Amino acid sequence: MKIIPNERITMRRFDDLHCHFRLNPLLTEVLPYTTRYASRAIAMPNTRPRAILTGKDVIWYRNEIMKALEVSSDSEADFEPLMTIEIRDNTSSKMIEEACRAGAIAGKVYPLGVTTNSDEGLKNFFKPEILDTFWAMQDEGMLLLLHGELDLPRTLVTKRERAFLPILRTLAEKFPELKIVLEHVSSERGINMVERLGDNVAATITAHHLCLTLNDVIGDGIRPHHGCNPMPKDFHDLDALLRAATSGDPKFFLGSDSAPHPKEKKEGAKGSCGVFTAPVLPELLAEIFEKEGKLDRLEDFTSRFGAEFYGLPLNQGTITLVKNKWIVPEQIGSVVPFRAGTELQWRHQ
Ligand code: DOR
Ligand code: ZN
Repeated sequence: MKIIPNERITMRRFDDLHCHFRLNPLLTEVLPYTTRYASRAIAMPNTRPRAILTGKDVIWYRNEIMKALEVSSDSEADFEPLMTIEIRDNTSSKMIEEACRAGAIAGKVYPLGVTTNSDEGLKNFFKPEILDTFWAMQDEGMLLLLHGELDLPRTLVTKRERAFLPILRTLAEKFPELKIVLEHVSSERGINMVERLGDNVAATITAHHLCLTLNDVIGDGIRPHHGCNPMPKDFHDLDALLRAATSGDPKFFLGSDSAPHPKEKKEGAKGSCGVFTAPVLPELLAEIFEKEGKLDRLEDFTSRFGAEFYGLPLNQGTITLVKNKWIVPEQIGSVVPFRAGTELQWRHQ
């Protein structure tokens, strides 16, 4: 990484270890915003109408992404999608083996009802059949990616991550060889838990959770474009996330959770949750790390720790950011990007 203060940053291309690319037509629209900065990205499987559940789905979805890549960029694009499947109550060990053979490197659990497209999410983490599925993942060397929230009765949305943490602890202890990622960690308690658990547990952190508290969602009018799951929380949570991301602790790395929804789906009476950060991601992260006085830690967070946890070689290409103010467009295609209409300090070259 080469930093010329207040002027220029040249750094290794990113691994974005949590991304929603959706299906066409949105797929072709949004993919180039990630491929401009990332050489690899975890393609989340909660697509609709076809969810990614089996080896066949993995091959089909990878093909869709590769076709979109050809349409949207030159054929030399330095980008590889990292494929996943959704783990549901009926995901068997055999399905794990097949998905693995088809190229899936991770399985994602959405607990039932906690977020976008989790209507068929996992109901029970500890029934014998699903434990067999987790054993199979451990045997195959597949990672377990957890949307770490539980929708319990009389539990506020801001307490859903906290409610999930005992499950994370039990899984981590029961499967010490299974690599587990607490996705988009959003609370001080979540950070503390990941720090305390063994080396088989890590967490991704998004750029928007490094900027927002609940006040930015509902404290000054209702801001649908800041609405996401897990919901941004309190100031001490924000401080803990900033500390973890800039700490140099390899358990914490980038997963943007860039999650585009068409404008009209965000701005309706029941707005969809998800923040489209890909169009501003490296620029925004540079601004955040610079403000923390930790710009020298940015590359480890975006381009080293994730690769190491996933057991992947480091990316070789670089991106360059220059200090050159710009205003984020109000809309990109059908989607409103994060920080729309506001000024950013760094610009991708
Ligand atoms: O805010 C979110 N949006 N959180 C998720 O977990 C899913 C995502 C989506 O798919 O839109
Ligand atoms: Zn997500």
